[in-house]
Amino acid sequence: MRKTFSASSSASISFKEKVCELYNIFRLRLLEPKGIKKVERLLDDLEEYSNKLFLYAGKSIENARILEIGFGARPLRMALLKSFGAKIKGVDLDVPLLDGKISEVVKIWKKNGMERAIKSFIRFYLFDLAERKILSKATELRGKKLTFSFSKDDLFICDASELEFDSHSFDLIISEDVFEHIETNSLVKLIPKMAHWLDPSGVAFIRPNIYTGICGGHLTEWFPSVVNSDMKRRSEPWEHLRKRRFQPNTFLNRLSRKDYRSLFSQYFDILEEEVKHPDLGRKWLTAEIQEELKDYPYEELFSNTVLFVLKPKKIY
Ligand SMILES: C[S@@+](CC[C@H](N)C(=O)[O-])C[C@H]1O[C@@H](n2cnc3c(N)ncnc32)[C@H](O)[C@@H]1O
Repeated sequence: MRKTFSASSSASISFKEKVCELYNIFRLRLLEPKGIKKVERLLDDLEEYSNKLFLYAGKSIENARILEIGFGARPLRMALLKSFGAKIKGVDLDVPLLDGKISEVVKIWKKNGMERAIKSFIRFYLFDLAERKILSKATELRGKKLTFSFSKDDLFICDASELEFDSHSFDLIISEDVFEHIETNSLVKLIPKMAHWLDPSGVAFIRPNIYTGICGGHLTEWFPSVVNSDMKRRSEPWEHLRKRRFQPNTFLNRLSRKDYRSLFSQYFDILEEEVKHPDLGRKWLTAEIQEELKDYPYEELFSNTVLFVLKPKKIY
């Protein structure tokens, strides 16, 4: 079995830095909203996908053929879309932990390394089970049943750019917080493939966390949920574009919004470009920092997760 270290655990930072970042992630998870609010983000995504798929492709989620690129260690979005009748497939470098069995943990260890296996195991029992329960309830209230059973043909564990599908295989391709973790060489292979895989009437909703934004460095101290907080921090605003003293516990390709635009526009018409949190970080852009970052347009500095709605340019 070829070992593919996950994007979220492959950064070459010191053990101390890793522990520090993991501790911060743990603290942020404890501060997350409780109850239904915990899964609101996923339900909002579902509604957004439904509306935009209908608007741009004239299709509903039910029976839509969907591919998720980078479903993560817990494929919640895939499960939700499946419960609403979508025919969903997904790809990730990481083996997901679906039912918490030791055999699954061993598989993750072999494929993605020890760090990923331990993280997945702890997270599954501390957070994932509770999250699933809430999502199941929310889905039931909408008259649907959530399931985490996926056939082997629906989950691909590899670099997305290595996948092969027939042309016109999908009505929709989605991806959340993933493209910034994909090597540029892989993106150059993946993006034309996506255009080939989509039905001519299909669309892609790709939402990377843009490097040049205040959260783009992926330091936990600058995660979107805490950007406006006045908490004590070791790093400074836009640290990753300025002093660069700390590294995140993940691989980043460092692409700007302009870079994505240029990569996508070779094969797709960009129908929408929507910033999730407009103006995020404005309070931190002092005159001195502005001077230091004068080479970056505001559009870049105030990008965070940006949704690109893409339509294939021509029939492949
Ligand atoms: C930050 S996580 C986001 C997961 C999920 N989309 C979410 O919103 O929770 C990024 C995911 O992208 C995956 N990933 C990174 N590079 C990839 C690649 N080349 N092919 C497939 N998946 C990749 C990682 O393994 C990781 O699970």
